[in-house]
Amino acid sequence: MSRNLLFAVTLLFASSCGSSNEASDSTGAATEGKKEVSVGKKVFINNCIQCHAIAQDKNGPALAGSMQRWNNDTAKLASYIRNSQEVIKTDPYAQKLYKDWSNMVMPAFPHLSDGEIKDILEYIGSGED
Ligand code: HEC
Repeated sequence: MSRNLLFAVTLLFASSCGSSNEASDSTGAATEGKKEVSVGKKVFINNCIQCHAIAQDKNGPALAGSMQRWNNDTAKLASYIRNSQEVIKTDPYAQKLYKDWSNMVMPAFPHLSDGEIKDILEYIGSGED
């Protein structure tokens, strides 16, 4: 296990401590969903947390409800997360958001895989903080 990964895992445990009782999940489906949420949370902590929280605005907007603001268009939202400036060229909502946030550029994340972005969206949609 690399040092970075170990660090992320430690952070994850520290932040989830005492909030929920994992043992209460008994069905396989629930456990599976939970796993994606925690993977998503880890990727989120590594890449997004400096600017975003789920429930409050930070350097960027609160992410709760962002799926709905993108009309549940996961493919478009995934492209936006990977390279927001590309999507801003053509999408009116993305243009407005950019303007509302004083033209602050969200960095591109070309290294994130489709799976990692999907896990982040699961985490955002889960309502966990
Ligand atoms: C350096 C700060 C910064 C980082 C890091 C960052 N963002 Fe952003 N993000 C922003 C800003 C600012 C906006 C508002 C739009 C703009 O100004 O481009 C935004 C907008 C968004 C939106 C649209 C929200 C809405 O209401 O429609 C989503 C979704 C999003 N970011 C997800 C992410 C994810 C996921 C990551 C990590 C992979 C991430 N961001 C990393 C600054 C950041």
